[in-house]
Amino acid sequence: MKAIVLQEYGGPEVLRLQDIERPEVGSEEILIEIAATAVNRADLLERQGLYPPPPPAPRYQIPGLECAGTVVAKGERVIGFNIGDRVMALLPGGGYAQYVAVAEDMAWLVPEALDLTDAAAIPEVYLTAFDALWNKAELMPEDRVLIHAAAGGVGSAAVQLALAAGLQVAATVGNEEKRQFVGKLGAHLVINYRDQDFVEAIDQWTQGQGVQAVIDFVGQSYLSRNLQSLAAGGTLVIVGTLSGPEATINLGQILNRRLTIRGTALRSRPSYDKMRLVQTFARRTMVDFNTGRLKPIIDRIMPWEQAGEAHRILATNQTTGKLVLKVR
Ligand SMILES: NC(=O)c1ccc[n+]([C@@H]2O[C@H](COP(=O)([O-])OP(=O)(O)OC[C@H]3O[C@@H](n4cnc5c(N)ncnc54)[C@H](OP(=O)(O)O)[C@@H]3O)[C@@H](O)[C@H]2O)c1
Repeated sequence: MKAIVLQEYGGPEVLRLQDIERPEVGSEEILIEIAATAVNRADLLERQGLYPPPPPAPRYQIPGLECAGTVVAKGERVIGFNIGDRVMALLPGGGYAQYVAVAEDMAWLVPEALDLTDAAAIPEVYLTAFDALWNKAELMPEDRVLIHAAAGGVGSAAVQLALAAGLQVAATVGNEEKRQFVGKLGAHLVINYRDQDFVEAIDQWTQGQGVQAVIDFVGQSYLSRNLQSLAAGGTLVIVGTLSGPEATINLGQILNRRLTIRGTALRSRPSYDKMRLVQTFARRTMVDFNTGRLKPIIDRIMPWEQAGEAHRILATNQTTGKLVLKVR
């Protein structure tokens, strides 16, 4: 089969197709013929040698944390899938390839209304957003949440999940086009952080009460303002650290207002934990993807031979939603 194997670390030019053997399918695994995968920020780090795959080390280091395709073989203990099923899957890596073998509990059926390129845009960002909102922030319907980078892959998924559950959603974005896009998703307040300080905007919007949770991807430069934006008892969920990982905290703020800071990372957590998340997410949300209440947001679809160009584009912060790679 063909795959993009990291033979060396470096710039986007190291992403090259090569021929390797097709993976064997284990007894509890399915073999997926991949129709599409999608690009994540983590792939950019992995390409530079800064984000190794979790153990056990794979024979070939192939980026790609998600895929959609068709089941073409299955192990003898697999009970949930048949040959020919259309599936999407969360992967520890290996998505930039024509085939991948994955535990059946990391995969689920693609709703009829979606094609496989739509489905490839779902696993990584939706699972992350689902986990941040419900498992980490433990939000309840009608709570108020502030979602940063809301036009990005995870952000736009979080906005949709929060709205579908009846939450009051405030969002930040970096330009007018993205502000309009997130407004059309239905967010109640969309702040262009280049024009307005989000702490002031949240203070006005909540009449000084603050939000029950902040879902953050920015880290360092937002930490103090995120804590200021929280209501008493609120939770800050750290999903990414795009501006840097180190910051100073005023512990008094946390103590006096009983705040919580939690982190989340999908790839590094134990498999059983990911499987439980995958199964809960699939059960609760696939109906909404079928009716169109939840949508995969796709900036563009590119052939996988252009994976390097896709990495360059994602790094510019200009995308809205996901960059999907069509695998031939
Ligand atoms: N913890 C996990 O398991 C997990 C899973 C998936 C992703 N992530 C992380 O979550 C983050 C977002 O992922 P994504 O897939 O949504 O990425 P994305 O689609 O590329 O969106 C990221 C957006 O963040 C904004 N941004 C970038 N740098 C910024 C900065 N310094 N200050 C403020 N805003 C900035 C930009 O939008 P604006 O123009 O609106 O500023 C950018 O388009 C990444 O760090 C990724 O690694 C974590």
